[in-house]
Amino acid sequence: MCGGGFAGLLVLGSVAVHPSGSVKEPEPQTATAATLHTSPDVAATLKRSCMDCHSNRTVWPWYSYVAPMSWLVERDVRRGRDHVNFSEWDQYTFKERRKLLADIATTVKNREMPLPQYTLVHRHAKLSDADTDVLCGWARVERRKLRAKLPVVTTSAGQPAGSH
Ligand code: HEC
Repeated sequence: MCGGGFAGLLVLGSVAVHPSGSVKEPEPQTATAATLHTSPDVAATLKRSCMDCHSNRTVWPWYSYVAPMSWLVERDVRRGRDHVNFSEWDQYTFKERRKLLADIATTVKNREMPLPQYTLVHRHAKLSDADTDVLCGWARVERRKLRAKLPVVTTSAGQPAGSH
């Protein structure tokens, strides 16, 4: 009965209501941090498929301004950045970077990332098998480089989870 009115209210409210906070605030940082070492190939793939949710340089599509889509998109970006933010790579410890690189390889290999609701709309963001290989290879090499920089400690906490 009052469904149309409710939808109208939702759209009107979308401008002001942002349950995930001010995710859309412009950030001064560049897309990636200086300590994130990538080849042009890897940089391009990350930019195409990951950066909208895992950096401060999100390109917001038009529907991300209309509720309820805006809430879903902002939530994904907020949570994505909380897990991995390539713009703030400098601020992670070596150990955190190693863990994130391992997680990147795993999520990409298992086709968990980029999120399916994202590739549904951003078809070009879908990773080919070649893209996946490039990202996993990059993550492996970077992890190895970081391991060389880490002090050698043998604690049970430092157990590498699922070496690639
Ligand atoms: C549409 C937004 C979006 C895109 C695009 C995206 N992610 Fe994510 N990512 C998320 C969200 C949301 C989470 C948190 C998932 C959760 O909590 O279950 C996440 C979590 C992660 C995690 C942590 C997983 C874990 O187990 O803790 C990694 C690593 C990751 N993403 C890597 C990537 C990579 C690499 C790409 C590109 C190939 C990518 N993501 C693309 C939104 C995105």
